[in-house]
Amino acid sequence: MLNTTLPFLRCPKKRKGKDRCAGKLKLASNHPPQQRTEVYEVRSGNLTCKDCGSRYPIISGIVLLVENVSEYLVSHVKGISRLVPLPEIPLEYRDDFLTAKAEIEIEQVEEDLEAQRVMALYLMNHYLSAGDESGERWWKPRSGEASPLIDSLIREYWDKSPIVQIGQWVSRLAKQGESMSTVVELGCGVGGIYPVIRPYIKSYLGVDSSFSSIALARHVALGMPYSGSIAIPEDLLQGHSARKLKLRVAKGFDGSGDFIVGDIDAPPLASESWDLCLVLNAIDMLEEPASLPRLQHKLLKAGGIAIQTGPYIWHEFVSKRLRPLVPAELRGDSARAVEWLYEQAGFTIEDRINHLPWLFFKHVRQLEIYSVHLLLARKRA
Ligand SMILES: C[S@@+](CC[C@H](N)C(=O)[O-])C[C@H]1O[C@@H](n2cnc3c(N)ncnc32)[C@H](O)[C@@H]1O
Ligand SMILES: [Zn+2]
Repeated sequence: MLNTTLPFLRCPKKRKGKDRCAGKLKLASNHPPQQRTEVYEVRSGNLTCKDCGSRYPIISGIVLLVENVSEYLVSHVKGISRLVPLPEIPLEYRDDFLTAKAEIEIEQVEEDLEAQRVMALYLMNHYLSAGDESGERWWKPRSGEASPLIDSLIREYWDKSPIVQIGQWVSRLAKQGESMSTVVELGCGVGGIYPVIRPYIKSYLGVDSSFSSIALARHVALGMPYSGSIAIPEDLLQGHSARKLKLRVAKGFDGSGDFIVGDIDAPPLASESWDLCLVLNAIDMLEEPASLPRLQHKLLKAGGIAIQTGPYIWHEFVSKRLRPLVPAELRGDSARAVEWLYEQAGFTIEDRINHLPWLFFKHVRQLEIYSVHLLLARKRA
């Protein structure tokens, strides 16, 4: 993590009852910079809560600001062990980590391949453009005929994605003189929104519970080192990831953006501190979707802006719990139901797009299309 990120972070530990500790944190680096610089990266060290003393490790530059670090390391052992050399796992967690690692090594590797494939899909989705005339036509097979339909859908819709649309909204807000000093994104995935909105904002923090996503976000958007390889699918006869992906990686960082590991259900963030809070395509992954607008409301300054998008692929048990919370007449329309949740949480909806195509290139013979709803809402005073 960058030293400049510290003031935005808070202790996510749960106190007795339902409250979070939310204490301020102290940063300790195992290798402090030789020379005083305003912005520097802490590759290894920890954050300690000034109130309750809880400690959160920084591993390969990634702070794990989660309630239970030991549990996190064990449940994310696959992604972490692929990217982090063992000596970088703090000693106090190493035995449990090694036990978990031994257990997964005897399992099938298919799940691993699946996880890497999903990462590749998101990387393409966040960072590749179809319009760069000088660029490679990454969606076309290198031999054989391309699908004319997939080709035309990608040319038509790829560069009108939700990320591009949010870039336009943020640019418009900046032009209107909206304060955009502090931006936080929950469930940021591989971080592609940051380079898009960077010209219009002062600072950005991306939070996601996936270690692999945060490692990739830091690599591509901040230029941090990355030890994994990055490849995308082509013709599946060649294997699942046959084409090395040439991404334009950021040349460096300036302290205006950072990415950390954290959980939306235990947000490690200062309250009432953000001008803009983004959440893209994560509400339907939460057990309690109604908690998301409440959380965005809590994080935002008075008059701050929430942007939320979703394809609303509710899990059956989530929709069962959500249904009775929304008025009967809205139960057939997820977009209106979600807007209603935002209004109930203290927002006024200022802009919306009901259906925006969101494309995932799965291989040369499979293109997945979601229809995403986007809303822009202001926290009422
Ligand atoms: C469908 S993906 C969307 C990623 C990205 N926002 C986008 O739109 O491309 C959902 C993301 O939310 C993250 N996520 C899911 N539940 C989370 C939680 N409880 N806390 C933090 N991140 C979470 C996942 O790791 C994943 O990166
Ligand atoms: Zn604490």
